[in-house]
Amino acid sequence: MADPQGEYHLDHDRLREFVATVHRTADDHDEVPALLSALRDPFDDLLAADDWLPDLYRNLPPEDYANASDMGGDIAQWLLYRQPGKLSISSLVVPPGVETPVHDHLAWGLVGLYQGTQKETFFRRVDAGDADEGHAELERVEVREAGPGDCYELIPPDGDIHSVTTPSDVPSVSIHVLGADIGCIPRHAFDTEADLVEVFQSGYTNVDCEDVDEHVHTHDEML
Ligand SMILES: [Fe+2]
Repeated sequence: MADPQGEYHLDHDRLREFVATVHRTADDHDEVPALLSALRDPFDDLLAADDWLPDLYRNLPPEDYANASDMGGDIAQWLLYRQPGKLSISSLVVPPGVETPVHDHLAWGLVGLYQGTQKETFFRRVDAGDADEGHAELERVEVREAGPGDCYELIPPDGDIHSVTTPSDVPSVSIHVLGADIGCIPRHAFDTEADLVEVFQSGYTNVDCEDVDEHVHTHDEML
């Protein structure tokens, strides 16, 4: 399938086949739940195959690597493919005991475990406001654990806010299929202790974002 705007950071036939399937399936489904259901089998196949994700994208970056991500110093988010404005596929590496910020995605998503286990804590916003900055109250909705091959869906506005940590004694590696250029769009990170929200751009470990919005804050500034 022609994909003139696609940007590959991993060149592998298995990934190219999956990307073509996602584009084709997205063209055929207007409703997000139906789209995500239709993607489950091909995504399961991708997660079950162990021959396509190179070591670099299953680990934290080497010490001398220029890490471009703001997800937190001990977390890697490797961009594998994107079509800006439409789709990104990335691998998230979270070492044992490390936790991501509480964040949203503002896009549909399918997340699957490739290695290790992850604990996802889902939240929903319960204050009346929808401000991008300042006061925000979250309520914890659900905690789930996922192991290799397990998969969960992100469907905004509900089920879109979570944090991720790794209970296993090996780093968790999860594959994220998002209906946006998730590392580069402005979204939100939440401080649940202080009841605060800020605009957040996670970035990617291996790719810089252009056109950084002046209102975007980094994870470090927020904590
Ligand atoms: Fe996430």
